[in-house]
Amino acid sequence: MVLWGPVLGTLLVVIVGYLCLPGLLRRRKPQEPPLDKGTMPWLGHAMAFRKNMFEFLKCMRDKHGDVFTVQLGGQYFTFVMDPLSFGPILKDAQRKLDFVQYAKELVLKVFGYQSVQGDHQMIHSASTKHLMGHGLEDLNEVMLDSLSLIILGPQGQSLGASCWREDCLFHFCYSILFKAGYLSLFRYTKGKEQDLLQAEELFTKFRKFDLLFPRFVYSLLGPLEWLEVGRLQRLFHKMLSVNDNEEKGNMSNWLCYMLQFLREQGVSPAMQDKFNFMMLWASQGNTGPTSFWALLFLLKHPEAMRAVREEATQVLGEVRLQANKSFVLKLSALQRTPVLDSVMEETLRLRASPTLLRVVHEDYTLKMASGQEYLFRHGDVVALFPYLSVHMDPDIHPEPTTFKYNRFLNPNGSRKVDFYKAGKKIHHYTMPWGAGVSICPGRFLALSEMKLFILLMVTHFDLELVDPDTPIPPVDPQRWGFGTTQPTHDVRFRYRLHPAE
Ligand code: HEM
Ligand SMILES: *[C@@H]1O[C@H](CO)[C@@H](O)[C@H](O)[C@H]1NC(C)=O
Ligand SMILES: *[C@@H]1O[C@H](CO)[C@@H](O)[C@H](O)[C@H]1NC(C)=O
Ligand SMILES: *[C@@H]1O[C@H](CO)[C@@H](O)[C@H](O)[C@H]1NC(C)=O
Repeated sequence: MVLWGPVLGTLLVVIVGYLCLPGLLRRRKPQEPPLDKGTMPWLGHAMAFRKNMFEFLKCMRDKHGDVFTVQLGGQYFTFVMDPLSFGPILKDAQRKLDFVQYAKELVLKVFGYQSVQGDHQMIHSASTKHLMGHGLEDLNEVMLDSLSLIILGPQGQSLGASCWREDCLFHFCYSILFKAGYLSLFRYTKGKEQDLLQAEELFTKFRKFDLLFPRFVYSLLGPLEWLEVGRLQRLFHKMLSVNDNEEKGNMSNWLCYMLQFLREQGVSPAMQDKFNFMMLWASQGNTGPTSFWALLFLLKHPEAMRAVREEATQVLGEVRLQANKSFVLKLSALQRTPVLDSVMEETLRLRASPTLLRVVHEDYTLKMASGQEYLFRHGDVVALFPYLSVHMDPDIHPEPTTFKYNRFLNPNGSRKVDFYKAGKKIHHYTMPWGAGVSICPGRFLALSEMKLFILLMVTHFDLELVDPDTPIPPVDPQRWGFGTTQPTHDVRFRYRLHPAE
């Protein structure tokens, strides 16, 4: 027994040395960006980064300027903070930056999905086909139906008109958008009561997973939480199982197309279930939170609410619910709402914070807009965090933390697309959907469903905050970098359906 001590000790030293040595030995080479390894071996700055990515990156930018490399858990990340220099990274004409490799590892860990050759490309072609153009028009109809079912109940207007109801706004929006989105994409059937129950149960589980998600990705869960995540994952695989779905109802053409591809590639049914889980996450994790922020901004800015309602009346006419009927709405009107579009764009600017990651698979030289050249090392990761470097840049968006509903409108009322940094026109003036090869393929559907929901809410309901003076809650700092942010706490509001004809 006594002998084991030194042996284990030596082994430990060897392992720790093996893990940390590359970090300890790494030096900045000429032409490389400033290197900040942090004080902890291997971990580097991981703790500060995970605690509050936004504040951490602000500090690093103040310290090092627009390009710098930091160590985070044994991996080196080079952040580029000058949006005028994003072009070459996003276009990647040299083909030295790789999105798929990093994404593969992440989805295996988070969803259990083992990526197959060509699936990334396939997701994008499925989405071009079914989440845009005519495919989107069909889905909008389904979505309006689902929203009616969820908001009004299976019998039509079960809400009881003219009676005020109180609820929590974040939960209200998330729950409605999730259930409507889920039913529309995953199981659109005629068995409405059943559908509602299943969607409700799925949402409850989804929120549990959602709350653990950031710390799960960062491997910071305690043992009990870790077990819980495993349980939830298995449950989603079961609830979204491809075997069940074929009997239970009809999935969207989007999902059908993708699952067919997987079948043709010989992917097992169990792995297809995991793919479904990944798609549920991608399609339902952001629309609810974004709609919450949009409605809250409207409730806190009466002039914006007035403008949105006025526009809605213009494009839809006076809308009135028919007794015991679903919502009826001219879907073509979704194309003619510049004011609401500006509200959505402004909401996403203020609250969507994606991180764009690319693995450098061959040494790469970035030529910045300033003309300066930087060398990125093979094996490192290039990262963009446009929330800080674009959305909050006061040069591009004056008073960047203020909600201005008409920020994306020209004086003549058309959509504004001209924004400038240092006098130069900037192409990527907001990036809520990511950009380049990894841009969100569901962005058009996302916008339609959120706009549809908000239009229904502002045209058919009276809405007010329980406490009109309640401030807008801060963003939960753990969620920086993961798509749309969430509030640290919910906000109470009340709503009342306009009486039917
Ligand atoms: C407000 C709502 C949404 C936001 C802010 C959003 C944002 C994003 C972002 C930033 C990415 C890129 C992630 C990366 O670079 O790694 C992404 C990917 C993706 N999104 Fe969205 N999204 C939204 C809604 C949707 C919806 C409604 C769908 C589908 C119906 C969808 C489907 C996807 C898919 C499938 C991917 C992965 C694409 C790939 O593998 O390249 N998203 N989303
Ligand atoms: C699936 O769709 C078909 C036609 O689109 C319809 O006849 C059938 O009833 C649907 N199945 C379910 C379970 O709703
Ligand atoms: C609507 O439905 C309720 C109960 O389901 C019924 O009492 C009422 O008469 C119906 N109204 C109309 C106008 O059909
Ligand atoms: C509205 O104004 C923008 C610039 O301010 C201009 O580019 C656009 O052509 C105008 N549109 C119309 C319909 O006048």
